Amino acid sequence: MEFIGRRSSCRFLLITVLLILGQSLGFTVAGGEHPGLESLAKQLMASAKEPEFFEWMRGIRRRIHEYPELGFEEHRTSEIIRAELDSLGIDYKWPVAQTGVVASIGNGGKPIFALRADMDALPLQEKVEWEHKSKIDGKMHACGHDSHVAMLLGAAKLLHDRRDTLKGTVKLVFQPGEEGYSGAYHMLQDGCLDDLNAIISIHVLPSVPTGAIASRPGPFLAGAGLFSATIHGVGVHASSPHMGRDPIVAASSAIVALQQIVSRETDPLEAAVVTVGLIEGGKAGNVIPDSVRFEGTFRSLSKQGLHNLQRRIKEIIEMQAAVHRCNVTMDFMEHRHLPHPPMINDEAVYKHVKKVGEILLGESNVHSFPVTMGAEDFSSFSEKMPAAIFVIGIKNETLKSDQPLHSPYFFIDEESFPVGAALNAAAAISYLENHSMLVNCDEPESHLPFAANII
Ligand SMILES: *[C@@H]1O[C@H](CO)[C@@H](O)[C@H](O)[C@H]1NC(C)=O
Ligand SMILES: *[C@@H]1O[C@H](CO)[C@@H](O)[C@H](O)[C@H]1NC(C)=O
Ligand SMILES: *[C@@H]1O[C@H](CO)[C@@H](O)[C@H](O)[C@H]1NC(C)=O
Ligand SMILES: [Zn+2]
Ligand SMILES: [Zn+2]
Repeated sequence: MEFIGRRSSCRFLLITVLLILGQSLGFTVAGGEHPGLESLAKQLMASAKEPEFFEWMRGIRRRIHEYPELGFEEHRTSEIIRAELDSLGIDYKWPVAQTGVVASIGNGGKPIFALRADMDALPLQEKVEWEHKSKIDGKMHACGHDSHVAMLLGAAKLLHDRRDTLKGTVKLVFQPGEEGYSGAYHMLQDGCLDDLNAIISIHVLPSVPTGAIASRPGPFLAGAGLFSATIHGVGVHASSPHMGRDPIVAASSAIVALQQIVSRETDPLEAAVVTVGLIEGGKAGNVIPDSVRFEGTFRSLSKQGLHNLQRRIKEIIEMQAAVHRCNVTMDFMEHRHLPHPPMINDEAVYKHVKKVGEILLGESNVHSFPVTMGAEDFSSFSEKMPAAIFVIGIKNETLKSDQPLHSPYFFIDEESFPVGAALNAAAAISYLENHSMLVNCDEPESHLPFAANII
């Protein structure tokens, strides 16, 4: 809003352009109706549901599903993406963060709206028996990232077909290493995403029915970190504990003491998690071992909260070790660029996608989703620019596509693909429509106010 206030001629131009554009697209600028967007949404959905289009997306997803690749090893997946972009005639930059790809569609200028898909699989053995089961033992697309790639390529095709009418640029971000490798952070280091005005991402979710989407404004997913602690003591035979220093008792005290960070030190109205999920030490019931290792995660909806949790985890474990005459080596895996910041959905971007979703799918199919303490590395984008993430429903009980993410029984209702492709494309096209008149006046920073707010 600020830069408009400084330039009154620009404001006049803006209003004029907006009114003309509003009329030419057929939407009422002040009213609540969007006939222009409605017919666009219908066309996009109809194209994405055409048998040939749908089978093309499904084929891509199935090929990726059969050959899952872990974080930063997505060479084959990246190759499939590039081959599809080549055959569509879409330009891209590669490599970005090793296997990542950033494609561009449109006039090359501002505004620039981005759509992101992650592309890595999990170290998990698929237990679903079907024609396109993973052919790689111990690896599986159990978080649906294969489908995110297919839906984003679907959006690429829809956008490419309309490239001459785009009022700016859409960047398609194919990101490696979401599952614990901070791929989003690494893509942002490249610099080719510095010019984005906003970005969205979708994620399939088996608790939401096919045909519906869900999200919420503001904090949506937790910021999350990992820790590993190795307590060093002195191992001896169990019959003479006084000759050693017992790391098992030290680790036990530390783990019990950690529980009080949330119960006694955190505001009850603030969400926080400290969980120890692994403990390892000792080989026999009658021997005190030299060391014990345990690992855990901590989560919060604020950056300050995360910082406090990390500081107290370190203090408590070190002091509990000292009480028991042991010492400790702590690792917060900062080399993996942890912790991830909390995922905060930008209000304006959220509202925009929600509106597009309501027009595309009907209001009853756009749900409000509760905050959860899960995490997503897309939060690295939300820390840098206006961003929003939406979940795409895939639940169909007949298909058993209601199994949780990261389960070896995870299964996707592929009928959700046209929804993801059309939502991505419609959100991008209408965002450019709504923001093009703003940027043509000036080169703003990155956080653009909505036209409606200014008028
Ligand atoms: C850690 O504890 C072990 C066993 O008590 C001891 O040998 C070692 O010197 C200690 N290391 C440090 C850095 O205090
Ligand atoms: C679920 O999938 C089955 C099999 O493909 C299909 O016949 C049915 O219409 C789907 N149900 C819904 C609610 O989409
Ligand atoms: C685009 O801008 C118009 C005019 O300000 C507004 O009414 C409409 O809701 C916006 N569309 C979307 C999809 O956000
Ligand atoms: Zn996952
Ligand atoms: Zn995921």
